[in-house]
Amino acid sequence: MENLPPRVLSGIQPSGTLHLGNYFGAIQQHIALQHEFPGESLFFIADYHALTTSRDPESLRSNVRDVAVTYLALGLDPNKATLFRQSDVPEVTELAWMLSAVTGMGLLERAHSYKDRVANGVRPTVGLFTYPILMASDILIYRASMVPVGKDQVQHVEMTQDMATYFNQAHCPRSPVLRRPEWKLSKTPYVPGIDGRKMSKSYGNSLPLFESGKKLKKLVGKIVTDSTELGRPLPHGKREDGLGYQCNVLSLLDLFLDENAMQEVIEFYKHARRDEQAFGYGHAKILLHEAIDTHFSEARHRRERLLAHPDEVDAVLEQGALRARSLARETLDECKRASGLR
Ligand code: ADP
Ligand code: TRP
Repeated sequence: MENLPPRVLSGIQPSGTLHLGNYFGAIQQHIALQHEFPGESLFFIADYHALTTSRDPESLRSNVRDVAVTYLALGLDPNKATLFRQSDVPEVTELAWMLSAVTGMGLLERAHSYKDRVANGVRPTVGLFTYPILMASDILIYRASMVPVGKDQVQHVEMTQDMATYFNQAHCPRSPVLRRPEWKLSKTPYVPGIDGRKMSKSYGNSLPLFESGKKLKKLVGKIVTDSTELGRPLPHGKREDGLGYQCNVLSLLDLFLDENAMQEVIEFYKHARRDEQAFGYGHAKILLHEAIDTHFSEARHRRERLLAHPDEVDAVLEQGALRARSLARETLDECKRASGLR
């Protein structure tokens, strides 16, 4: 394992239409890393993981395609980063089994995400319980050094570190095979949804990434604000928990505007006036609608083009699978030798 080059890896579940929270919390950072990270980058569509909730083959297939098209439309360059589908590398399930054989039940029983999902009505299957083992296998099989994730996934990467140690101690204490990864949080780990809770597919409070025009306007119009009347100062302070502004519209505008433009809007909020005209939430929402529409306009065009050329998308995934599989086979081979399976 010595002298392994730095390698960044992350995955995203194909479980529904991607939204602004997914973009600012995850995808934007992944795409930036392909240029900034001093090593190889790998990003994958976690379709095996999605089976813990998906029961409709057609939507799973179309969600997988949607994630691939979204990454490419937003600027993922297949010459710089590897984009692949998790299930194109079945070796990952084999390593998951080997990891499960060295991992104590207690580690999994402490997983917050399992408890949260069950509390939210997801059926507690064995797959849902052992989800962190498959995720650890994803990371360890590519010997990633860095894993950019949202806050909710940090515990899973910490469990991955533990599993790497268990495996190495059990099978190869003198020449460890698995590399312990580090996690990295995105700069915007919290994007509020239309109702002010964290934006999530499962809360039905999303602003989908590629929505535009009237439909987008309607959704932006629904963003919850308080009932301060026009002409009075609007709430413009930060939230106590540090997760953006008191006003949801300001928190969302902050994702798009530079510092000066943002300061200007905050002044409007403070004085509730704009060029002798009253400035209210309606005006702030117009700014937000324009900002979203403009920011993703090029990506929307690229997306339309990719949707019309599915073979190009398939070719990228096939190419990605070849690279990912060759890395995975190498690691799995070493794990098998270390444990005595070979
Ligand atoms: P969802 O909650 O919509 O199902 P996922 O759990 O599939 O989203 O998240 C995929 C990625 O997007 C993760 O890295 C997650 O941390 C990030 N993410 C999801 N929602 C948000 C949000 N509202 N703010 C910031 N990041 C988010
Ligand atoms: N569990 C992650 C999520 O729901 C997706 C995921 C699966 C992942 N395997 C991974 C993320 C490996 C990073 C690394 O968002």
